[in-house]
Amino acid sequence: MVSKEKMVLDPPPEFAAQALVRDETLYRSASEDRLAFWAEQAESLDWYCKWDQVFDSNDPPFARWFVNGKLNACFNCLDRHTQTWRKNQAALIWEGEPGDSVVLTYQDLYQQVNKCANGLKKLGVQRGDRVAVCLGMIPELMVVMLACARIGAIHNVIFGGYGADSIADRINDCGARLVVTADGGWRRGGIISLKKICDTALRKCPGVERVLIVKRTGTDLEFMKGRDYWYHNLINEVESICEPEIMDAQDPLFILYTSGANGKPRGVMHTTGGYLAGVAATHRIVFDAKDNDVFWCTADIGWITGHSYVVYGPLLNGSTTLMYEGSPDWPERNRYWGIVEKYTVSVFYTAPTVIRSFMSWGAGWLDGRELGSLRLLGTVGEPISPEAWMWYYNYVGGGRCPVVDTWWQTETGMILITSLPGVTPMKPGSAARPFPGVDAAVVDGNGNAVSVGQGGYLVLRSPWPAMFSSLWGDTEGYKNLYWNKINGCYFTGDGAWQDKDGYFWIMGRVDDVINISGHRLGTMEIESLLVKHPVVAEAAVIGKFDEIKGQVATLFITMRDDYQDTPELLQELKDYVADGIGAIARPEDIYIIDEMPKTRSGKIMRRLLRDIAEGNVLGDTAAQEDEGVVEHIKERYRG
Ligand code: WT7
Repeated sequence: MVSKEKMVLDPPPEFAAQALVRDETLYRSASEDRLAFWAEQAESLDWYCKWDQVFDSNDPPFARWFVNGKLNACFNCLDRHTQTWRKNQAALIWEGEPGDSVVLTYQDLYQQVNKCANGLKKLGVQRGDRVAVCLGMIPELMVVMLACARIGAIHNVIFGGYGADSIADRINDCGARLVVTADGGWRRGGIISLKKICDTALRKCPGVERVLIVKRTGTDLEFMKGRDYWYHNLINEVESICEPEIMDAQDPLFILYTSGANGKPRGVMHTTGGYLAGVAATHRIVFDAKDNDVFWCTADIGWITGHSYVVYGPLLNGSTTLMYEGSPDWPERNRYWGIVEKYTVSVFYTAPTVIRSFMSWGAGWLDGRELGSLRLLGTVGEPISPEAWMWYYNYVGGGRCPVVDTWWQTETGMILITSLPGVTPMKPGSAARPFPGVDAAVVDGNGNAVSVGQGGYLVLRSPWPAMFSSLWGDTEGYKNLYWNKINGCYFTGDGAWQDKDGYFWIMGRVDDVINISGHRLGTMEIESLLVKHPVVAEAAVIGKFDEIKGQVATLFITMRDDYQDTPELLQELKDYVADGIGAIARPEDIYIIDEMPKTRSGKIMRRLLRDIAEGNVLGDTAAQEDEGVVEHIKERYRG
């Protein structure tokens, strides 16, 4: 730890000289008057009617930002830019995996969104309705989200890589009556049959009345008359202009499901006013948004990173946002660098797992690519090792570009801990300091601050504008899972420590949430699926360390008496998890054991299982009920 703390890099001088934020004034003014700071940030949006109170928390932990303010998210992302010189500026640069590409100006995107909004209305979607969107990374995904926002419908984007069970749970929980999907999506030269996966999911979703299908791959599909509609037909039948709905700042803009330590996916709800204000401010300040930037956040829009920094943040600020459909190693391992060169990307935001893949492929893949357009790099999703940080900084950034390590969550909506690229000295491996106006701390279980260098729980002591407003249909969960755990604080689920300069070093989750390639998965969600399989009696899923992905899922199962473990069965179980939850959850290893190691109170000893999976010397098992169980597992799996 000490040696890490020693490495400090100042922002590269050429960058600092032209940065939007060049000194500590923002930190100071925000700490003097947090609410005034956020109100000033919210002024960057167009409001039909201004708020009469910046913040209200009569009923904690529920909070209201920009009380009684009225606005429309889509108007802020599009309409207002079409009234300026930005009208003909590229809003979206999109590249498909096969190499096709589309550039939409603000005016183009505005027109498509208006049509789509009218199409949604024609299918019966009304203000407040939930629309489930299960698409790959194609322009229509952005169009549909903005169209929902325009008519006041709540989008629930479901990651295109999820399996049928995960999709069905998310559709049912939010009560969507319309699902938008595509015939297929490109991935590593192959086609993912999105419509087929959705059809499987929809067998469990009686509430869905209509399905809107975008044609992307030309894949055969079963078209259910009366339920299914083609996107391209629908938008040809509607009027060109759709007036935006006037929404209240508190009206939900979207629901996005994430995993927690309990089995049920959590429908994280984000508001219109606070969310947009927080996302616009952080996109502009953290990514130093400039008019001629090409901003590329590589995240899939199915995750919060894509919502906030592929769609809403860049469009609110009138930037050019880039979207790529496919995989970084298709057809070659230099695809990303080809895209950076082709479109002269200036700001690039990706995840540590992606950087680790590039490292393992070797810096040779960057050779011959012109990366001189890059001026700022970012990372998000999990802690980045100083080695990966330095690789990114030196090879991708050529030592010219600051790296912002941004800590945040689905629930926080916006970046909360980060450096400011033109101001903050960087310490590789640390997410640096709370964004101005953000009140983060490391505390013990009672909410008392721990001392410098000591590990504890990462919490937020005051609300922030893009905070989630609740969990869909689960206000008790909102209170109990996040706000009632630690006295007066929002509990993030992460462990962290702070160094003497106040820098935050994130240590990872302290709950049973695993992080595979920067994607959050609840072990319970996988376990509850597994126990529905006929051979499985009990299941425990743990995250095992992985060089590239950070963690991979490893299963421990006990079987029902009348089954034998054969290689075919192990394969079947892996497929079962991948089909149900999604390919990212596909277990790497499966251990069939006779009995689960449990504590006296009956809790599965996950830490012990993780040690076994990672081949560590078995540690202290004092709380262990039955030494024999462990001996047995050791005997069987550790030669
Ligand atoms: C969890 C949130 C928000 C974007 C993507 C993930 C981990 C996120 C960092 C970072 C260390 C990080 C935390 C957090 N995390 N960013 N810069 N350094 N850890 O969103 O799926 O809601 O997951 O990702 O553990 O709690 P998410």
